[in-house]
Amino acid sequence: MTHPEPDGESVRLGDIVLRNRLVTSSSLLGYGVSNAALVPYGMSPVSRFVPLSEFGAVTTRTLTVAPREGHFTTRDDWPLRELPALLRRYATVLRGTDGGWLNAFGWCNVGIDAYLRDYYPRTRDQRTIISLGGFSAEEFVTLVEKVNAAVPAGDIAAVELNVSCHNVNFDFSAILQDVLDEAVPRSAHPVILKLSPDYDYLRNAQQAAKAGVSALTAINTVKALRLDPRTGTPWLANRYGGLSGRAIKPIGLRVVSELRDAGVTLPIIATGGIRTVNDCREYFWAGADAVSLGSATWLASYPGYLLAPLRGLHVRRVLRAVRRYRTLPPRPAPSR
Ligand SMILES: Cc1cc2nc3c(=O)[nH]c(=O)nc-3n(C[C@H](O)[C@H](O)[C@H](O)COP(=O)(O)O)c2cc1C
Repeated sequence: MTHPEPDGESVRLGDIVLRNRLVTSSSLLGYGVSNAALVPYGMSPVSRFVPLSEFGAVTTRTLTVAPREGHFTTRDDWPLRELPALLRRYATVLRGTDGGWLNAFGWCNVGIDAYLRDYYPRTRDQRTIISLGGFSAEEFVTLVEKVNAAVPAGDIAAVELNVSCHNVNFDFSAILQDVLDEAVPRSAHPVILKLSPDYDYLRNAQQAAKAGVSALTAINTVKALRLDPRTGTPWLANRYGGLSGRAIKPIGLRVVSELRDAGVTLPIIATGGIRTVNDCREYFWAGADAVSLGSATWLASYPGYLLAPLRGLHVRRVLRAVRRYRTLPPRPAPSR
């Protein structure tokens, strides 16, 4: 496997080459490009005001072997008159809550073949991390081999294995070791393992290191629940969802710091409630090598999206500041 040398601005996390230390978290920018002009399906309105090619990398929505409706829909041809139905459906998979967001899209995606054919070629100006999800080691092997066949080594930053999602209602700990043993050695691209704060992440990180994984992403969403207090009806169609955004930043910081305290030396891409430059700094002090913008940056209430140009400016400011972090200061020793 060959890897390009980083250019003047790039940073290297092991064998992963990023344009800088600020990436975007899986799914928040869909597939990195939208199909629809009027309703930018899968893309936050904020993304229209941010140069995606300037991020360290953009991580795709999790892709599966076959297309999946999940708990939402893969349709992206909604005419305006059907917009209310789309928004009603949307509210059963994504809701704002308690300083964050609760989602259960259930890996709704077009499938790896359609992504590689219809979307990936239109994102060649971006550095990409392709997120892969499956329910067996065989599915992960298939996904890795499809990416190998379509994308020459070095053309993407990495593939990220999503074995930490709660809203597909599957126990990934039962397949993790097999996935690592079978899929990682077959990848022509560096492999990132995405950790869940709800699993045994210290053990999973050690398994990843032994299996030749190049980096860790910490954290995926936190399993969570909201109910209508009058009726007891769950907010989300899947009952449980993943909590993201500001509310989980302290949990993300805890996980990154505990990974370092446990002696994990793999590079860590931190994601969890990051919105400001100071959030990034906190994660760097905790032990992260790169930081990732997720919900706090791209999601808003519908009226809140009127401020998309301003939020775009804010994201560009964070990007400019983090680009200056070519090297990171050593992490202070943990106090006992
Ligand atoms: C609407 C939504 C969809 C998500 N979909 C995925 C996904 O498909 N795959 C994945 O690995 N993570 C997914 N995530 C998790 C994010 O990539 C990220 O790890 C998590 O939200 C924590 O970061 P944040 O608090 O900054 O959002 C999703 C998060 C949200 C809010």
